[in-house]
Amino acid sequence: MKRKIWIDGEFVEWNDASVHILSHSHQRGSLIFGFIPIFENENGTFIFRVDKHIERLLKSCLMAGIPIDYMENELIDAVFDTVKENPGSKFIKISVYIASIEIDVVPQDPFTKVAIAAYDPQKDIIKKNSQPFHSSKQLSVWIEKERHQRRQDIIEPQIKIAANYTSPMMAKWKARKNGYDEIILTDSEDYVTEAPTSNVFIVNQGGVLRTAHEDEVLHGITRMSIIEIAEDEGIEMNIGRIPRRELEEAKEVFITSSSHLVYPVNSLDGKPVGNGKAGKTTMILKNRLLRVTEGKDNKFNKWLCPV
Ligand SMILES: Cc1ncc(COP(=O)(O)O)c(C=O)c1O
Repeated sequence: MKRKIWIDGEFVEWNDASVHILSHSHQRGSLIFGFIPIFENENGTFIFRVDKHIERLLKSCLMAGIPIDYMENELIDAVFDTVKENPGSKFIKISVYIASIEIDVVPQDPFTKVAIAAYDPQKDIIKKNSQPFHSSKQLSVWIEKERHQRRQDIIEPQIKIAANYTSPMMAKWKARKNGYDEIILTDSEDYVTEAPTSNVFIVNQGGVLRTAHEDEVLHGITRMSIIEIAEDEGIEMNIGRIPRRELEEAKEVFITSSSHLVYPVNSLDGKPVGNGKAGKTTMILKNRLLRVTEGKDNKFNKWLCPV
């Protein structure tokens, strides 16, 4: 499949969609992005909560002071055009970036471009790379103790900007070398925040579903969806600060993201979570979200936007 990437209204061949090595977004990490899942089911092809994803992208630009010339509806239309142009895609990556060649941290030419790619990560990227991809069915997680979560007074965790991923990358890379699949970060006061590219939920000893407050984390669209599903299922939930101890003693832990939806955590720091298998609440939420993606959930089918 020859993929085409939408760049400012034109479709460009996959291999030609490049930026200069000295571009500001590349050198300073000023690229804002979004990653949106596409689901195929018996009723057709659907983009998941595209409005919420684009809203978050625009909010990230605003918070970071990165200018963008597009309106929400123009971006949504462009996302749909890109998915139609690239059949069989499973995800959309939308990037807002300063493509100009710059010398200062403050760009002389602060104009952004927008690129939208729709692809199948397995076929279009993973299989084409030289080294094997790390993947795991049993998720072993390291609770990171040295490097803390993104901080409000450095770069707000709500901004989905490339620069925000450097610190978790360093911590996760180290954990990988030590045999773990994933990490969970805490804030500087040792309260649980999120994983590098996922939000974290626990079921605590009292059976209450918990996740960090939205001041502390990226506003994950999957997190938002799981909260709505949990409310609908009548699951007792408490959103707020989670001391690290509560995570370590949790009966169930799972992480949520557009790439894996609900991903149960089997062990923390080498010790099993519960009996080491996905717990009851985790499976209720995981299966319900899966039903939504299959177009089999009357209440939340509205989250699927037909292509
Ligand atoms: C820091 C961070 N937290 C959470 C998430 C999960 O967000 P979503 O559910 O919208 O994919 C992501 C996604 O990339 C992320 O980068």
